[in-house]
Amino acid sequence: MSFRDDCALTAAALDTFACEARARAGRVIDQPPMAELSERLGLAALIRDGGLGGERLAAFLSSYLAASTRLHHPHYMAHQVAVPHEMSAIAALVDGFMNNPMAIYEMGPAAATIEMTVLNWMLEKAGWRPQPMPGTAAGGDVHGGGVLTHGGSLANLTALLAARARVAPAAFTDGTPPDLVIVAPAACHYSITRAAGIMGLGQRAVRMAPTDAEGRLVPAALPACLDQLQGEGRRVLAVVANACSTALGLYDPIRAVANICRQREVWLHVDGAHGASALVSRQHRAGLDGLDLADSLVWDAHKMLRTSTLCAAVLVRDHRDLDNALREEASYLFHDKAEPGFDFIHRSVECTKAALGLKVFFALATQGEAGMERYLDRQVALAKAAAAYLRSEPGIEVAVEPETNIVCFRFEGGDALQLALRKGLTGDGRFYISTTEAMGRRWLRIALMNPATTLTDIEALVGALRKFLPAAGAQQDAR
Ligand SMILES: Cc1ncc(COP(=O)(O)O)c(C=O)c1O
Repeated sequence: MSFRDDCALTAAALDTFACEARARAGRVIDQPPMAELSERLGLAALIRDGGLGGERLAAFLSSYLAASTRLHHPHYMAHQVAVPHEMSAIAALVDGFMNNPMAIYEMGPAAATIEMTVLNWMLEKAGWRPQPMPGTAAGGDVHGGGVLTHGGSLANLTALLAARARVAPAAFTDGTPPDLVIVAPAACHYSITRAAGIMGLGQRAVRMAPTDAEGRLVPAALPACLDQLQGEGRRVLAVVANACSTALGLYDPIRAVANICRQREVWLHVDGAHGASALVSRQHRAGLDGLDLADSLVWDAHKMLRTSTLCAAVLVRDHRDLDNALREEASYLFHDKAEPGFDFIHRSVECTKAALGLKVFFALATQGEAGMERYLDRQVALAKAAAAYLRSEPGIEVAVEPETNIVCFRFEGGDALQLALRKGLTGDGRFYISTTEAMGRRWLRIALMNPATTLTDIEALVGALRKFLPAAGAQQDAR
């Protein structure tokens, strides 16, 4: 069998998988014990003997797909991971084949040009000046900059390293000064506190920003919070705003927060891993109003831009902040050379880096901005319709009015009941949802990523959950 034949049979298997899933056939999620699965997939024998390809590849794919979680199934409503556009998956194949680690231009000129173009498209959406292509007229004003990373967590770390370089330029060589703190809402993603740990600030250096009952940053109370930290002899490395929060999908009021940060000369980082994609929507981009006044933004394409994992952007208003963040010596990579293009390597924690831009570019180039906008608007409208329906159902409480495609709700009863309901549902496998803690309580949570999910699917989900209520209630009582 040739590469061409193996690709053809792989494409056929994937297409059948997606068609069946979209037709709501089978379970969304099934988790056989790992040892059993390893046996079923014949992994050890394949590693020992080789020979994957042709008939064996077809057989293997059939078992592999059968044991995979079905994001293409409209009952997939669990996590903020895109149901990728088919063209994005094709881009992943092209990248896997070409293997152009394009952090230095000479290792992938086409991939690097696409990364620059995608980043510039995002910079413009954020309200920042795009970076001129090398060799073109630069213009006078400061321009933005960015880099694509393998995920939002790495992107948040990179943005905070850029903030650190501005506040404490010697930190990269001398270590992080102990007086630095990050101010973030408690509802921030854990990658913010993790970044603090990695950067040597320690997780305790993340100080909680003042928030309202729904976890949104309260700008009016921010100056007092900053004053108090100053009184304690602390320097603020960055204020972090959510756009939107992971659990409830709510946007912090960026403009008001940004104005305070500007007055105080404090770096504002906007974590838009999930919600920055609203910038493509005329209807929903108001959630990010004031973003142009921030210093950095993280935007995951593999969440709401129909892009295969992973592809996240770190964007800064002033490229110099990112260019100064990671100073490394690697004489075989960093040296004076005639540059027809641009090397991203000094902006990236990673050295070898996949051609991530290709995946988001293919998704964009197939649907165009208008197609992306239609997708985003549809998913948010579905979330709002779902919230209205859930509110109309007896015994169900909705956490907040959705601002994105995320809806949190709970059945009358304690936190243990919600967990038991989700456990029952996941074990059954016909629906896949998540849970979260917010506002001091446990909620069932749906992230409506799949463009094939409809309100009827959500009604069916509630029907399924009600079937588990007696068993889940009994489980709760037994605790
Ligand atoms: C607000 C926010 N920031 C960061 C992340 C982390 O992104 P990733 O999973 O790509 O590392 C997430 C993931 O859900 C998120 O919701």
